[in-house]
Amino acid sequence: MVIERDIDIVRRDWEKVELIVDTTAALLYDRLFALDPALRLLFPPNIEEQKLKVIRMLGASIYGLSDPEVLIPILQLLGRKHFAFGVCARDYDTLADALLWTLRLGLGGGFDAEHEAAWKRVYAELAAHMQADLARDS
Ligand code: HEM
Repeated sequence: MVIERDIDIVRRDWEKVELIVDTTAALLYDRLFALDPALRLLFPPNIEEQKLKVIRMLGASIYGLSDPEVLIPILQLLGRKHFAFGVCARDYDTLADALLWTLRLGLGGGFDAEHEAAWKRVYAELAAHMQADLARDS
């Protein structure tokens, strides 16, 4: 369950990460494919544009967290697309690991246990909404 303080922490971290958005995107994908090389096959050969799409959507979601009525249907639709792309539940966990690794590297000492816990809760919430529709269908 995400609390106001989590949203606060994640937003402030995101403001820093956005300043180095290209590096963040590159690190995130390199880590994702290092953790599970098979995931590279889900993506088109040229993923430069894709890298930024995901980062922008993550940012938009973080800002949208306090407006769930708007955010949740968008995430559900995005989740359906991901199912069609071949993304499964385990892949969301792999992306979570890659994201936490990237944040730890990008934010250094500022990314302490409290920040990590806040990000875990926020990401879990986003990933759950992306998969909610699919869980209902199965
Ligand atoms: C909170 C988690 C995620 C967010 C916010 C997110 C966001 C996005 C967005 C915005 C797009 C572009 C959709 C479009 O063009 O219509 C996309 C595409 C895609 N995402 Fe994600 N994504 C997430 C999780 C994942 C995970 C876990 C995987 C698998 C490792 C994944 C793999 C893909 C693939 C394969 C595409 C399509 C690439 C293409 O064919 O161009 N995503 N994602």
